[in-house]
Amino acid sequence: MQYLKPILAQEARIEHIHHNDLNELEQKVMEARAAGEVPVYVADGIYSMGGLCPIPELLEMAERLNFYLYLDDAHGTSIIGSRGEGAVLSQIDGYLPDRIFLTFSLTKGFGVAGGGILVSNKTREHLIRCFGQIYAFSAPLDFSSVPACLASLALHRDGTLNGLQKALQARVGLFDQLMGLELPFSPIRMIPVGNEAVAIEMAKRILDLGYFVCVTFFPIVRRGHAQLRICIASNHTEDQIKGLAAAIQDVQREYGVPQTTVGRA
Ligand SMILES: Cc1ncc(COP(=O)(O)O)c(C=O)c1O
Repeated sequence: MQYLKPILAQEARIEHIHHNDLNELEQKVMEARAAGEVPVYVADGIYSMGGLCPIPELLEMAERLNFYLYLDDAHGTSIIGSRGEGAVLSQIDGYLPDRIFLTFSLTKGFGVAGGGILVSNKTREHLIRCFGQIYAFSAPLDFSSVPACLASLALHRDGTLNGLQKALQARVGLFDQLMGLELPFSPIRMIPVGNEAVAIEMAKRILDLGYFVCVTFFPIVRRGHAQLRICIASNHTEDQIKGLAAAIQDVQREYGVPQTTVGRA
């Protein structure tokens, strides 16, 4: 999305709101309407930098103020919903509303490659097939991925997925308990650090202790708000989660970074 922003800015005014601040969103939507613009709100179902989009509240507001939603459920696909339908679809009754454009990934929880977009009607599908970059110029799903996607789909249908989802929830629950976090479920946990150089040093130290964590910094997050990004998977063992939490806490102590991590809801 970051690299699409300047391209979109050629044709539209781009505004940001604070994380999940629906009051601010309402204000921006009203301003856009007053200026004769068509508001489109872009968000993730599960945020890649921590936290969850409040889908029911957002949908209610979009209905009330009549604006479009472009929702990216890359991180919710396979992870949320009894069929792995994701954070957005699992909270929508019936058909996809006309105002939603919904993207999903087959590369993360789904475990293969590729992704897609769900739209509510044929005209939009036609426009995307004609002008969407992947269809028009770049590579569509390669043939070798198709059988792998079908195999993953079979695991979604035969109950294997639900077992993996439960294991993942248990691992995240254990991590949260050890780290003192009280947050809604997400496979992504962020540990705030602040200074970029310190965050990189901390990740190196954690790697020395045997655990890989990502460091996120500007332009992914705000300058001076670097964080460690932890992606928990269903096949991590309890011992690995315990070892990771202990490693993070040791390194937090070593660098004087406060241990009570507030995380994003
Ligand atoms: C929110 C979000 N959407 C989409 C993507 C891209 O997904 P994919 O791995 O399918 O290319 C990412 C990648 O990390 C992401 O964080």
